[in-house]
Amino acid sequence: MTMEQTITYDAPTVVQDIDVVNTYELEDRAREVMPAGGFGYISGGSGDEYTLRQNTKAWNHKGILPRVLADVENPDLSTSILGHDIKVPFIMAPIAAHGLAHATKEAGTAKGVSEFGTIMSISAYSGAKFEEIEEGLNGSPRWFQIYMSKDDDFNRNIIDEAKADGATAIILTADATLSGNRETDIRNKFVYPFGMPIVSRYLTGSGKNMSLNNIYAQSKQKISPRDVKFLKDYSGLPVFVKGIQSPEDAVLAIGAGADGVWVSNHGGRQLDGAPASFDMLESISKAVAGRVPIVFDSGVRRGEHIFKAIASGADIIVVGRPVLYGLALGGWKGVRSVLEYFENDLKRVMQLAGTQTIEDIKKTTLIDLKD
Ligand code: FNR
Ligand code: LAC
Repeated sequence: MTMEQTITYDAPTVVQDIDVVNTYELEDRAREVMPAGGFGYISGGSGDEYTLRQNTKAWNHKGILPRVLADVENPDLSTSILGHDIKVPFIMAPIAAHGLAHATKEAGTAKGVSEFGTIMSISAYSGAKFEEIEEGLNGSPRWFQIYMSKDDDFNRNIIDEAKADGATAIILTADATLSGNRETDIRNKFVYPFGMPIVSRYLTGSGKNMSLNNIYAQSKQKISPRDVKFLKDYSGLPVFVKGIQSPEDAVLAIGAGADGVWVSNHGGRQLDGAPASFDMLESISKAVAGRVPIVFDSGVRRGEHIFKAIASGADIIVVGRPVLYGLALGGWKGVRSVLEYFENDLKRVMQLAGTQTIEDIKKTTLIDLKD
C-alpha cells in the first residue's frame, strides 16, 4: 500500500441552508463536523497567533457614528470593480484546498458564490480543476490567484489555462514566499489529503500527502516588481498584488504596474507579530491616493467590518474563513447563507449610519476609539 493510498479524509457532505447569528460562531460549529487536521489548517494562524487575534480586535480601534435625519431607506450595496458590476462590495477570498471543508470542494464554494452573485477568487492551490470549478461558477466572474513557479514556462502555461477558464484578473500573492510558522499544522502533522491539479505540473508530486512548507518551497521565493510586469505583459489582464501591509509596498506595487493593491496579512497565517490588516489600511490608502483600487482582507466577520474598511479607503472587501465554515456546514447553500448574512448585516449598518450608497460610506469619517 503506497503512502498515496493510505490517507483517507472524510469531508462533510451535507448541503443545506444554515442559520447565521454571527460568523464567529461558525468556527465552533465547523469544528464539530470537520476532521481535526483540516479544521486546524483552516482556523490556524502562525506563531503566537497574535496577528490572527489582532485582525478581529482592531475593528474596535475605529467607531461608526450613528446618524439620524439622513433620509435613508433600503440602502444600495452595489458597486463595480474592473468593469464588473456587483450587488455587494465584497467577494470570496482565494483559499486553498476547499475539499478540507466539504466533499464538493471548490465547486461547492463556486456554486454558492455564483448563486449569491459576487466574484470568486480561485487559488492556484485549489484541490479542483478549473473545469470542475466552472460547474459551480456557471459563467459567474472569477479572478485567478497565482503562486508562481520558479520556471516561467510553467507560469505562462498556468496563466493560459486561467485565461481560457475566463479569469478577468490575476492576483499575485506576494506575502507567502514561504509558509508562516503554522504550529497547529506541525502538531497535527498536517499534509494535504488530495492533490492540487493547477500547480501539480511544477511540483515533484500531485500535492497529495505534501506539507504546505514543501509545496511553498517548490513555488517561487524571489518575487519582485519584475513578476508584476511579467504577469501583466503575458496575461494582458489587470494584476492585483496581494499581501500589501505597508504604504511603501503599495507604492512599489503601483510603480511596478499593479492595477490594484490587495491589503492583507493572509489572515494572520504568515508573519506573526504583524499588526492587524485593518490598522494598516488607512496609511496605505493615503499612499495609494486613489491611483488604483484597494482590496482588503483579514478579519472580516461582520457588516460593521465591511463598512469600516470601505470608510478607511478600501473599494472591495474579501471574506475568507467564514465562507469556508459555511461550506463545511452546508455545502454551496451554506456558502450562500454566509454571504447573505454579510449582505443583510451591511445593509443594517448602512441604514443606521445614514448612508444610502457605497459612495456615502467612502465619504464617512470614522471616530478613533480607545480599546
Ligand atoms: C488562505 N489564504 C490564501 N491566500 C492566497 O492568496 N492563496 C491561497 O491559496 C490561500 N489559502 C488559504 C487557505 C486558508 C485555509 C485560509 C484561511 C486562508 C488567505 C486568504 O486569501 C485571506 O487572505 C485570508 O483568509 C483572510 O483572513 P480571514 O478573514 O479569512 O481570517
Ligand atoms: C495558506 C496558503 C495556501 O494560507 O495560502 O494556507
